[in-house]
Amino acid sequence: MQQVVNGFLEQMNKFGALFGKRPPSPVVSAPVARLPRHVAIIMDGNGRWAAKRGLPRPARHHAGTEALREVIRECDALGIEALTIYAFSTENWARPEDEVGALMGLLLRFFNSEIDELHRKNVRIRIIGDVDGLPAPQRDAVTNAMARTAANTGLKLNIALNYGGREELLRAARALARKAKDGADPASFTDRDLCECLYTAGLPDVDLVIRTSGEQRLSNFLPYQTAYAEMVFNGVLWPDYTVEQLHHDLREYASRDRRFGKT
Ligand code: FPP
Repeated sequence: MQQVVNGFLEQMNKFGALFGKRPPSPVVSAPVARLPRHVAIIMDGNGRWAAKRGLPRPARHHAGTEALREVIRECDALGIEALTIYAFSTENWARPEDEVGALMGLLLRFFNSEIDELHRKNVRIRIIGDVDGLPAPQRDAVTNAMARTAANTGLKLNIALNYGGREELLRAARALARKAKDGADPASFTDRDLCECLYTAGLPDVDLVIRTSGEQRLSNFLPYQTAYAEMVFNGVLWPDYTVEQLHHDLREYASRDRRFGKT
């Protein structure tokens, strides 16, 4: 795996000119009065974006990290409480080895290059998913990032890595079963008890899910936490996602009438 990652990083340097760093979006004022507390994003369309440019498969996610950087900055600037991004699912291991290696390489790069700025900005990083199942370098990088930013009180940035929603629920069910075995009355368990067994313990429910690229599904992402979330699906391929599009999606959210099952 490490060889694949190194190979990918070399390729990236070679192709660097192709991708270029896109200029930062101009600073735009806060778009709406009613902001969601918790935004979750499925960053879809990297493959289609790369295919349109004739770029090799492993290169597809590189440009997506630029968009991600901007979105994190903007959520922080807007004062959004929590942002959760879907970076790698438990199902993504089934992708071709070079693509998985590329994604793992990007992760390392991301943590090495962004951690200082995120820490300076008081961002708290949490990985949701099975960290133990990651290769050692990635596991160390994310564990360090979590420890370093643990006391921060700004944007809660949650990165779903080796994450699967059903696996998360199964894990929570097992934790509750253990409590019952230790003597707790299962009839006393509440929604709150279950939430405390999820990777997202302590976070507010998701208010807004944004999925790019036109696909309209959750793909095993936060199935419990999104029970009352508003969904915004846009046709933008993730690497083309901008701060302006984020504002557009936030305005769409603000225009929704959330009734939570009431009238
Ligand atoms: C889906 O696009 C996207 C992913 C599987 C991963 C997204 C990851 C990143 C944008 C960057 C990595 C994150 C960090 C934290 C560095 P797809 O390849 O399925 O697109 P397609 O549907 O067009 O093929």
